[in-house]
Amino acid sequence: MDNQGEQEMPQELFSALHLQEDKPDPCIMVIFGASGDLTKRLLIPSLFNLYCDQLLPDSFAILGMAMDDFTSETFRDQISEDVRKYSRQKQFDDAVWADFCDKIHYMKGRFDDANAFHQLKSFLQALSGRHDIGGNMLFYMATPPAVFGMISTGLESVGLNEEHDNWRRIIVEKPFGSDLASARDLNREILSYWKETQVYRIDHYLGKETVQNLLAFRFANGMFEPLWNRNHIDHIQITATEQVGVEWRGGYYDKSGVIRDMIQNHLFQMMAYLCMEPPTSFEPEAIRNEKFKLLSAIRIMKPEDVPNNAVRGQYAEGVKPDGSPAKPYRQEHLVDPDSNTETYAALKLRIDNWRWHGVPVFLRSGKGLATKSTEIVVQFRRAPEFTFRGTPAADQLEANQLIFRIQPDEGIELRFLAKRPGPSMHMRKVNMNFEYDEAFAAHPGTGYETMLHDCMRGDASLFSRSDLVETSWSIVQPVLDAWASKKADDFPNYPFGSWGPKAAFELLSPSHRRWLARKPREALTRVPLFEGSDETMLQTFAMMLKPKVFNAGDKITHIDSVGGELFIIDQGRAEVIDRNGLVKDEFSDGQVFGELSLLLTDKRQATVRALTYCAIYTLDKRDFCKVLMDRPQFTERLMKVARERYNVIVDATELLAGEPEAES
Ligand code: BG6
Repeated sequence: MDNQGEQEMPQELFSALHLQEDKPDPCIMVIFGASGDLTKRLLIPSLFNLYCDQLLPDSFAILGMAMDDFTSETFRDQISEDVRKYSRQKQFDDAVWADFCDKIHYMKGRFDDANAFHQLKSFLQALSGRHDIGGNMLFYMATPPAVFGMISTGLESVGLNEEHDNWRRIIVEKPFGSDLASARDLNREILSYWKETQVYRIDHYLGKETVQNLLAFRFANGMFEPLWNRNHIDHIQITATEQVGVEWRGGYYDKSGVIRDMIQNHLFQMMAYLCMEPPTSFEPEAIRNEKFKLLSAIRIMKPEDVPNNAVRGQYAEGVKPDGSPAKPYRQEHLVDPDSNTETYAALKLRIDNWRWHGVPVFLRSGKGLATKSTEIVVQFRRAPEFTFRGTPAADQLEANQLIFRIQPDEGIELRFLAKRPGPSMHMRKVNMNFEYDEAFAAHPGTGYETMLHDCMRGDASLFSRSDLVETSWSIVQPVLDAWASKKADDFPNYPFGSWGPKAAFELLSPSHRRWLARKPREALTRVPLFEGSDETMLQTFAMMLKPKVFNAGDKITHIDSVGGELFIIDQGRAEVIDRNGLVKDEFSDGQVFGELSLLLTDKRQATVRALTYCAIYTLDKRDFCKVLMDRPQFTERLMKVARERYNVIVDATELLAGEPEAES
């Protein structure tokens, strides 16, 4: 398909396409906490993106309110500097920014000062007159959750919550409360002054195109929905990992942790879209009802269930992506040096309804990890083997996987088995790939554009209702309680920049279930045996790599066992110990061992033991041989490398015939 024209679409044309969409009513957007991080990193860049796409109302103004000492002039100067750092506009247009910037105003004020709200009201009346706006107002709480209630009360005290032939809406940032009890209190407090229809509880993940596409994928295509149940699906994985640590947000984060910061909201929202029943329409309430039903069906863990179904982690010192050293979490700014807060969590959830009974949903998220990526894996049940009885394919059947890459490299991939060309029935895993970049003109959105635009138009579909938020808290509450009542005795338990704690890899069982490996292709390029392999071959091997994590002291291979795996150390150090217990060698990041096990069936001559935390990809001989069958030239080259490098003669026929079980 030729999408070149689309990809090079000029900004004006792109904007013109949006003109057909509803423009929001004229309004003023008030940002509480305007001098904070959210405003400069996300809100202003997103509003500017909307402005460039002509999606803001014709009459519009922004009023920032915070305690810092700015005037409207100095606030604009500061924001103008920040926006150049954080905007994702491909070409930043200074003239358009200058027009937009004129709409920004600032007022200094404390949220606990009743007078400040009287001043705010007068300021808004003046602004409304100057920009010819009328009375529509959107109040955005870009503040810590602790002051949401205070602001909502302040607004009520001067009547700014009242709607008279106009609308008044508040957007409340996540996390909404800090546990079930506080979320209930906050709902009660807010709903005593505001109607539910005025309250927009935001979760920016729902603004992401790839998350919204989960609904399109499931309900606009006839192909998958009939398979979307326990009869066909083995399990589901939802992962959202981040490379960054807590950065400057230690004060907030140390009171939150990843369950409150990511899982209770972003990951649960994705799970709800992926697993809910088809709504009867696209009306906001129809969608919210189905999400609520799904979340209400999640089995609530008993205290004794928590250890087997929830894993927590906290990062130790390590290495940042740029190679510089990273501090351990407990030494981050504003973090308690003895903190029990989790920077990583993995959960195994059960959905107690007919569709999903018996299908576990695994969730994991964390900071200070090797990659920034959000993805969902739907793993189908394996096909029954009887059809292939008597053929080599009988024990080669693997489960199909549907992978939603939410970010980055946005797309959808389907992995399935195909017959290898040739006279006999051999199978190999292959894939089909859809990439957003190739199919559509990419839009530099953050997720906030959609959310802000929808709120201005009064479309609450993507925002959470009070019952949804409370139900989400009730799912995580037993885990929060269990973790608060018992200090983690193994913290910190994963190095910054790693794959997370070993226990998270053990949460997935039985062994046919394992977390999907991210970016394994790069690891393969380090294997000397694969030097000069073409891209297709690297991609094929990459689909076969399995991620494993070992802690210091764990044995990775055992002397005298029959090797059946190649090991690629992505991170960590391991030592090689001979029969007499002597250390003969050491392996570290990027090194490979077990190459010979792929070629020979001899017993291992040494034990390899982890000296530190080790993140390792393994490649099974069985998978390796499947690829060799298709690549006679590569096989020939391998034989040559084995001769020259290891001084061994490999019998190619035997190699291709024998596919022993890998060491577990
Ligand atoms: C926010 C969390 O809600 O989401 C942050 O508070 C996190 O800690 C961020 O970094 C991740 O969002 P995204 O869109 O970059 O995946």
